[in-house]
Amino acid sequence: SGTMTALNGSSSLPLAGIEYGNGIPERFDETQLWRIYNITDAMQQSIPVGQVMEQKFGGNIWKENSKFLDISIGKEHVKAARSFLDAHRLESEVLSGNVQELIDAEQLDGINSTLSLPGSRIKKASRSGSSGMHWKDYHDLETIYAFMREVRAKFPDIARLYTIGQTAEGRDIKVLRISENPREYKKIWIDGGIHAREWISPATVTYILYHLMSKWETQPKYLREKTWYFLCVMNPDGYVYSRTVNRLWRKNRSPSRRANCFGVDLNRNFDIGWNGYGSSTNPCSDTYRGTSPASEQETKVVAEFLAKRKHNLDAYLTYHSYGQMVVYPWAYKAVKVKDANVLQRVANTAVDRIAQKTGTSYRASVTHEVLGIAGGGSDDWSRAALGVQYVYTIELRDRGTYGFVLPPKYIKDTALEGWIVADAVAQAIA
Ligand code: ARG
Ligand code: ZN
Repeated sequence: SGTMTALNGSSSLPLAGIEYGNGIPERFDETQLWRIYNITDAMQQSIPVGQVMEQKFGGNIWKENSKFLDISIGKEHVKAARSFLDAHRLESEVLSGNVQELIDAEQLDGINSTLSLPGSRIKKASRSGSSGMHWKDYHDLETIYAFMREVRAKFPDIARLYTIGQTAEGRDIKVLRISENPREYKKIWIDGGIHAREWISPATVTYILYHLMSKWETQPKYLREKTWYFLCVMNPDGYVYSRTVNRLWRKNRSPSRRANCFGVDLNRNFDIGWNGYGSSTNPCSDTYRGTSPASEQETKVVAEFLAKRKHNLDAYLTYHSYGQMVVYPWAYKAVKVKDANVLQRVANTAVDRIAQKTGTSYRASVTHEVLGIAGGGSDDWSRAALGVQYVYTIELRDRGTYGFVLPPKYIKDTALEGWIVADAVAQAIA
């Protein structure tokens, strides 16, 4: 991890917006991943643990919920951060002693699983379509976009590919629509890759698309009657940056005018509870909410695209990692939506089916109870602004062993879990 220079004129360390430049991947040798418990108790004694770890020790928050905080700490800050925890009697656990090893293992696993296909590469190439898409490894943005084009080409009568806008760095934001029904009743929106480093999310959303279309003609009516929208990568700039420069990048890549930092957390940028809890006004923070609601192109074009199509929009599914949860509104306030029992029931069904099928245990809950209060999320916005009924954020695998750096050998089963949720929701709408 590079040395940090104060960039925003304040005394605190710059956070998530540090520039490493030149496309040289940032390394995380001996960066440790910690899980710190009883955060809320400490908060009550006015010790904002996450904030201190971020600002004093250059920590990168991976996950924060009511029970614990997962945070990675660079080698050079480990000792001081440890003393801080000890001084405040904060219990913790080392999830990984070397994040770079996780990243290296992730790459190797991908190479191995792609090469170890029976019948060699030639056979594999003929089995996959023109895009070369498969779910044995993570893919670059171009392959994902090629896959979306491939689906459109194979289903010219029912598939439409939209470029709904461009990012700060000029990349296209693409949505694929599948519909056999000109009347467009019962629409389902699915997005992935709001957060750059959650690679399993675009992998899952492309898999859901594949699973749906690979046997489209024989799919049950409740799937075929729907109009489907797939935004496989909502944050293409961030995704590319995470694949080329900083594996742990979360936000988009728009430059800040106020500080020498980059990126807005797109899941804090939507126009719902924007000015409230759970986001930051600091452009260098990983949860920076931006200068105003929908200040970001990604947010703005998604919001506009959906606002035009809110009629009969029945489901909004957004895939994240990690934590193994299916959660529903609200997140911006500690209140449940009034039909929470319906959302809980459908989530329970999905979670039960996942347990049966893959043996993985997911938890179904209202968001604020398990992830804490945070405004500006796309999930809450789709319910509040568009009136979508089935709104779910799906936190895919795992529970912290690998975190964002989930080895490719787990992609298929995890993506199947993502499919099971989408299928259960589609069935509930029927
Ligand atoms: N991990 C996601 C995030 O922090 C959880 C989203 C839950 N919804 C929400 N509106 N906060 O963005
Ligand atoms: Zn996320």
